[in-house]
Amino acid sequence: MARRKQIYEGKAKILYEGPEPGTVIQYFKDDATAFNNQKHAVLEGKGVLNNRISEFVMLGLERICIPTHFIKRLNMREQLIYHVEIIPLEVVIRNVAAGSICKRLGFKEGEPFARPVVEFYYKKDELGDPLVSEDQINAFGWANPQEIDDMMAYTLRINDYLCGMFAGVGIQLIDFKVEFGRQYDGDLMRIILADEISPDSCRLWDIETGEILDKDRFRKDLGGLTDAYTEVAKRLGILRKNEEISDTEEISDTKGPVLVSNNDDKKD
Ligand code: TMP
Repeated sequence: MARRKQIYEGKAKILYEGPEPGTVIQYFKDDATAFNNQKHAVLEGKGVLNNRISEFVMLGLERICIPTHFIKRLNMREQLIYHVEIIPLEVVIRNVAAGSICKRLGFKEGEPFARPVVEFYYKKDELGDPLVSEDQINAFGWANPQEIDDMMAYTLRINDYLCGMFAGVGIQLIDFKVEFGRQYDGDLMRIILADEISPDSCRLWDIETGEILDKDRFRKDLGGLTDAYTEVAKRLGILRKNEEISDTEEISDTKGPVLVSNNDDKKD
């Protein structure tokens, strides 16, 4: 049997040629990196959790008519997605001050913003993904004004949806990053959501305790990253209460989010 062809290897994912033209297989690795790859570790089970959480989020977004690259999950670490031409931008939206905006503009961590703030970063590892303006994006040809508008509008809608989804399970969505791609169909082109949405690309704090449930556990050397991601998956109903993630066993069907109304029900 011929080996499938690798198209691209990123820090946390690998892309392989898909079974049909226009499709790609996205494989979730256990690798965690931070500060532009200066820090690296392999955290067993992270890829499996992100595959499931991202699937859950993409399916939810499809239901509110956000076009995404997600077609279906294939197994514990892989999903079938549409091939897109990635727009070289990381679109970040922030509800509460945390991370780089605190360093850059002096906000106090945890300070809520009057409204969600959208930022664009140019995807270029050699430059450390710098913050860029809409005028730069347009002038340098990374995206045109209509595409910028589409990305902004989708990101705001995704934020509204995710804020509600996470609040329902006792989690505050502080900020997150998304990426978009162009999908071509003959002469037609549309912008669709690509990459992943998982605790690797979001900041998620427990509403009651403020506990960090995202990749900041790794960035800040707090430990317990896969336990935190497992907690997110359990609250969303992706994993059952007493279930742990495993690479070999198929996990139960998604039961839907668990309403977190009091502390007794939160932990095993
Ligand atoms: P920042 O505060 O470090 O700019 O991060 C903002 C959000 O974007 C946060 O939820 C983490 C996410 N993010 C990524 O997904 N990838 C990255 O490379 C960076 C820097 C941030």
